[in-house]
Amino acid sequence: KDPRIARISSSIRIIPDFPKKGILFQDITTLLLDTKAFKDTIDLFVDRYKGKNISVVAGIEARGFIFGPPIALAIGAKFVPLRKPKKLPGEVISEEYSLEYGKDVIEMHVGAVQAGERALVIDDLIATGGTLCAAISLLERVGVHVVECACVIELPELKGRERLEDKPLFVLISG
Ligand code: PRP
Ligand code: MG
Repeated sequence: KDPRIARISSSIRIIPDFPKKGILFQDITTLLLDTKAFKDTIDLFVDRYKGKNISVVAGIEARGFIFGPPIALAIGAKFVPLRKPKKLPGEVISEEYSLEYGKDVIEMHVGAVQAGERALVIDDLIATGGTLCAAISLLERVGVHVVECACVIELPELKGRERLEDKPLFVLISG
């Protein structure tokens, strides 16, 4: 196993009972304070995706906006923000997805991507997989090929990977 992973893993702070009782929150803001861990995180993704003919890195608001842009710059792809509702000023397409309680929506600007482009979807963490599924659906609806989804952290007990079905998922830390 890559020794960089241990440092990245130990740089993530676990906060119990946030945002509510019983949740062990994975706080990646402490990873961002460790300049080596942050650089290693980006490098591990860049090494995997450079030269793979990816023209779009789609990052999911909010924490996907932290990791997506440096990866996009390094692999020569554009960055496309997938945002929470009513944040994007232009014409959008929307995708609804279910949360533990209720529903949420993510949106993408029409014209940000073209049919036939190859995309990487980035987020900090996969839990139930609902957010990534919605991102994949948005991109596929406009004819984009989602090459892979990538996250720093996977919570395997929530089986998000199964929800993604045949879509490849790459994570640095699982568990
Ligand atoms: C968190 C996390 C992922 C998502 C994962 O985001 O950053 O985006 O939940 O959950 P899922 O796999 O069950 O869909 P959150 O919506 O809490 O907001 P934030 O990124 O804006 O902080
Ligand atoms: Mg998020």
